[in-house]
Amino acid sequence: MTANPIQYLTQRTGYAAIILLALSLTCTPVSVVSGWKRVLALRRPLGLYGFLYVALHMLIFVALDFGLNISLILQEVAEKRYILVGTTAFLLLLPLAITSTNGWKRRLGRSWKRLHRLVYLAVPLAVVHYAWAQKSDIRQPLLLGIFVALLLILRLPALRRRFETQRAQRSMSNRQVARDLEV
Ligand code: HEM
Repeated sequence: MTANPIQYLTQRTGYAAIILLALSLTCTPVSVVSGWKRVLALRRPLGLYGFLYVALHMLIFVALDFGLNISLILQEVAEKRYILVGTTAFLLLLPLAITSTNGWKRRLGRSWKRLHRLVYLAVPLAVVHYAWAQKSDIRQPLLLGIFVALLLILRLPALRRRFETQRAQRSMSNRQVARDLEV
């Protein structure tokens, strides 16, 4: 049993949230590198479950830890930089969670994609929040930060094109080998 159950719950939900959000960002680079398209279907559920855990994490903090005392909560947000950064990440994710349905995707058209690029800011901010929330050992958030940075780099259009060209060349040469074997 833990001595501080509220802290324990805040930490567990925060950790689950950041892992799910990072996994959601992993789907596109995996698809770009491997050509495995079906993994893209996991982006939305992973992102939404991530947001659900963020919401739980924040609810535990504001309701259980601070008893919904608005002035105390605002004071904490203003005084602690990691809370301020975490709140910013939450506020950036909120419109994404709301507009994640097919209906909103249709209604917003091309703006939907632009809006959902906010995730590239929200997740790094969440990693900073994670690092600043740690009292001493920041090795885990640092590793996660490097991983998230790599995922974002892999999305750069020049790199994406390179992987796609390489894949196309590989599949062409595979087809050629198959044809040669048939002859
Ligand atoms: C995208 C948004 C957020 C994510 C992904 C996130 C994730 C995390 C993570 C991973 C930790 C460290 C857990 C650990 O030590 O294992 C943490 C700590 C914490 N977070 Fe968040 N967080 C977010 C937003 C917020 C918000 C909005 C608040 C409150 C307004 C908040 C309050 C806290 C507190 C108080 C801690 C420290 C718990 C402790 O060790 O005492 N977080 N968060």
